[in-house]
Amino acid sequence: MNATTAAQAADIVAALLFIFSLAGLSQHHTARAGVAYGIGGMGLALAATVVVAARGISAGAIALILIATAIGGAVGLWRARKVEMTQMPELIAVLHSLVGLAAVLVGWNSYLGVEAHGAAQTEVAHDLLRIHHAEVFIGILIGAVTFTGSIVAFLKLSARIKSRPLTLPGKNALNVGALVAFVALTIWFTVSPGLGLMIAVTVLALALGWHLVASIGGGDMPVVVSMLNSYSGWAAAAAGFLLNNNLLIVTGALVGSSGAYLSFIMCKAMNRSFISVIAGGFGVEAAAGGDTEQGEHREISAEDGAELLTNATSVIITPGYGMAVAQAQHPVAELTRALRERGVDVRFGVHPVAGRLPGHMNVLLAEAKVPYDVVLEMDEINDDFAHTTVVLVIGANDTVNPAATDDPSSPIAGMPVLRVWEAENVIVFKRSMASGYAGVQNPLFFRDNTSMLFGDAKQSVEDILRALGPADSGPAAPRSGSRPAEQPAHA
Ligand code: TAP
Repeated sequence: MNATTAAQAADIVAALLFIFSLAGLSQHHTARAGVAYGIGGMGLALAATVVVAARGISAGAIALILIATAIGGAVGLWRARKVEMTQMPELIAVLHSLVGLAAVLVGWNSYLGVEAHGAAQTEVAHDLLRIHHAEVFIGILIGAVTFTGSIVAFLKLSARIKSRPLTLPGKNALNVGALVAFVALTIWFTVSPGLGLMIAVTVLALALGWHLVASIGGGDMPVVVSMLNSYSGWAAAAAGFLLNNNLLIVTGALVGSSGAYLSFIMCKAMNRSFISVIAGGFGVEAAAGGDTEQGEHREISAEDGAELLTNATSVIITPGYGMAVAQAQHPVAELTRALRERGVDVRFGVHPVAGRLPGHMNVLLAEAKVPYDVVLEMDEINDDFAHTTVVLVIGANDTVNPAATDDPSSPIAGMPVLRVWEAENVIVFKRSMASGYAGVQNPLFFRDNTSMLFGDAKQSVEDILRALGPADSGPAAPRSGSRPAEQPAHA
């Protein structure tokens, strides 16, 4: 078997490993295997690419490839080890921007290798030249949109720029106009390719990517990140066509279609229109959200919370972004064990967009060794809140906001939420009365069956654990005082 055939065989195996990886990552208990398949596939793909590239190039060039791979690998390892779980979406956005940039560079490189030399001096067959011209433009469009779109997503997610949507006058017309201009430029380029058109399409696509994502509000950013994930896949596939690399085409298509499907599922979970995400304009309403208080809230102490929990028959914990910030998953797992030892039925209700990235809560709970079988998805548990004694809302806010179902004028109206307010008692763990990610106040906090337990979530859960005492010590520690009612001091 010669090197090319071996590399082609390796490509097929790598593509299969990527498919196994995606399948593995879709379930908690197979996720580790999924990651291992992914690493194996990528290692094989890199090796096969280097083997093919090594034919006919100098030893110096091979050394450069290996050095670049080592530097890239080292930077990736360093960032992945350092990144906080809460910063993961930002990291993903930065990585997507690199895929986009790579696709733009591949497009330009292809132009410099083919079109810039004139039709006579290229290796591309004459009748395929027009297709090549179009491929260059399509690759640059997808790559540049992904590049600037991901940069804006990164800046918004890391709060370096305001997450409010940019609302330029006639923004939809601007987007449509940019697409029409792209089609016109592509036709022109296929007839008469030139440097001026290359510059024009690159600038146009960079501006379009920036505008598309800048027009979307922060509350909708999860769908945008997943959409950009999809775009980065298509950008890679476009680069694969230009580089004549089948594995890149297959891998790009896998990432592109799985990212698009994830976006679709998330749009359903947030009751958003899939088409309007791609059109980059549905965040406008989120900006109108108010943050004003809606009545008076009650507070509860950790000791009273512990007593309520000991007397409960069923408890549902709904974690959110605040649990991740506080790193409260370990004491939460400890609390789960302590209550189960006392015969309390404890389960978790996880909203599909709780936290800051898909599966955020599941990852944290798995890390703290909460048994998978008590961690349920929103649709599996939503009907059970009405028969539950206590719900612990730990650092969640938007995902448990009744305004989404009760108030058609709310910016998050229509977003499916965990119906925690149907339970007998709700305890909300947070530090203040501040709003959540979408910037809207939560009427849950002012309901009669809701009590606020203010403070860092980790500290509050540890206080409850302390008040509970050892499992065989009977009921919770005695109350430290009566329940202070009506204290709207934590504004
Ligand atoms: P959020 O609505 O973001 O609310 C989190 C709450 O946690 C805040 O109200 C905050 O209140 C509290 N908190 C923060 N730090 C805390 C700490 N150390 N201890 C205790 N509480 C703390 O959370 P959610 O319900 O998980 O909703 C997620 C939101 O993020 C949705 O709007 C979603 O669309 C958006 N989003 C999701 C994703 C994905 S894919 N999951 C990605 C980006 C954005 P205090 O400040 O008062 O403590």
